[in-house]
Amino acid sequence: MSAYEAHFRVWRGDQDGGGLKDFHVEVNDGEVVLDIVHRLQATQAPDLAVRWNCKAGKCGSCSAEVNGRPRLLCMTRMSVFERSETITITPLRAFPVVRDLVTDVSFNYTKAREVPSFVPPEGLGPGEYRMWQEDVGRSQEFRKCIECFLCQDTCHVVRDFEENKESFAGPRFLMRVAELDMHPLDAAAETGLDRKSTAQEEHGLGYCNITKCCTEVCPEQIKITDNALIPLKERAADRKYDPLVWLGNKIRRR
Ligand code: SF4
Ligand code: F3S
Ligand code: FES
Repeated sequence: MSAYEAHFRVWRGDQDGGGLKDFHVEVNDGEVVLDIVHRLQATQAPDLAVRWNCKAGKCGSCSAEVNGRPRLLCMTRMSVFERSETITITPLRAFPVVRDLVTDVSFNYTKAREVPSFVPPEGLGPGEYRMWQEDVGRSQEFRKCIECFLCQDTCHVVRDFEENKESFAGPRFLMRVAELDMHPLDAAAETGLDRKSTAQEEHGLGYCNITKCCTEVCPEQIKITDNALIPLKERAADRKYDPLVWLGNKIRRR
């Protein structure tokens, strides 16, 4: 295979507006979209803003949209596109643009802060925790998250409805609630924190209608919907319809 020239359309602008600009850029064997963006900076658009760091799919910085699909620029091989195809690169749609391909993802940090952290069990120090390997494995899957926020960007609950942002944590942080709720040593309940209720009432679990788009775009192949969101929904529903819980709530309300 040899080098060829591909047609790119890249969004340029800032919070005041912008648009797609056309470029023709050389592509070589084995390159990824981030290589092309770097070549574009080096040869035609030195002031093009793009966020990246590791170029190895591990820092989660280079998230953007390629032909409308949320992707990591450093993990998207040019060979997945036809040579004749026009490749459109745009910033993440769900977050405000800072400049060109860089967006302000602080929404995610706000949501992260809203999830109360792990509550250590009383009387046990670090190194004394004991868990079944099965429980360790369950949360280990969620710990693969590189915080690229592609799942947050693609979920229609906030992608299409800006007004939902306040009451919806998004798949990445509902997954965090699920992880903590499944953790056998989390002692949140002893402090009066019911993670299942807060998932519904504070983090907007009910907005998720299991479209699984989050799972489809996750570069770590985390089964966000099947392994985190659906189990959390089931646990929250069990909690709500458990006759003993219902009776307890009734007595407490008197
Ligand atoms: Fe990215 Fe997957 Fe983490 Fe979502 S869950 S932020 S898509 S790595
Ligand atoms: Fe959104 Fe994922 Fe649910 S895309 S609707 S959080 S399954
Ligand atoms: Fe780190 Fe792409 S540059 S994930």
